[in-house]
Amino acid sequence: MKKTVSTFREAKEKGEKITMLTAYDYTTAKLLDQAGIDAILVGDSLGNVVLGYEDTISVTMEDMIHHGAAVARGAKEALVIIDMPFMSYQASVYDAVVNAGRLMKEGRAGAVKLEGGASVCPQIKAITDAGIPVAAHLGLTPQSINAFGGYKVQGKTEQAAEKLLQDALAIQEAGAFAVVLECVPAKLAAVITEKLDIATIGIGAGKDCDGQVLVYQDMLGMFSDYVPKFVKQFGNIGEQMRQAFADYKNEVCAGTFPEDKHTYRIADEVIEKLY
Ligand code: KIV
Repeated sequence: MKKTVSTFREAKEKGEKITMLTAYDYTTAKLLDQAGIDAILVGDSLGNVVLGYEDTISVTMEDMIHHGAAVARGAKEALVIIDMPFMSYQASVYDAVVNAGRLMKEGRAGAVKLEGGASVCPQIKAITDAGIPVAAHLGLTPQSINAFGGYKVQGKTEQAAEKLLQDALAIQEAGAFAVVLECVPAKLAAVITEKLDIATIGIGAGKDCDGQVLVYQDMLGMFSDYVPKFVKQFGNIGEQMRQAFADYKNEVCAGTFPEDKHTYRIADEVIEKLY
């Protein structure tokens, strides 16, 4: 059965954990779907792990639509959430609604996600009023990396913790159906989770969030540019890929691949006529 934003609400009510992972292509989306993952986030981490940028700032609407649509074709049951990229919603409420609409129409998202708290509530309300489910993203919000001055844990002081809680309450009031909490101390994330009716999805925010999300290349050990403390590697697929690529190279060079069983046949008479 297709998962929707109601799945998030029901899971929170029943105290069942929500599972989310990122994907950026059809094949990976199918695998996540088959594994029963509840939601697939087409994150703008696309910029880092697929496109090779050092941050998410350069990611465009076209990038998100292109990859989002591929994921949507592979996800039969999981809810597909597509990130709104940097400057697709910050400048105006109008931009936010138009661009969220494009992610739904052209990217075939089931919901969109944007970064920020009270300052983006007008956008969250307008997008929600247009019939588009919105998830918010608080804590370490990578699109603001230049304002933060680096990737750091957020909400550690009394003032910052209070601001995070108020932002979470504000985005809920504005209509968000869920909030991603990134790099937030576990005890603060637990308080926010308790105080909100909407689901919290943690990444580096401890086990008390209503759900968890990771970037799939991180949890499979495929991306080694940097590995944050909150990543657990559930596989070492990067090493397996490197080994398989090297085996392929060796077999091609040695002439042991392809073998007969990988080869198409033709009658000898047909070939003889060519001489
Ligand atoms: O872009 C992304 O992948 C994200 C996750 C890190 C939550 O926003």
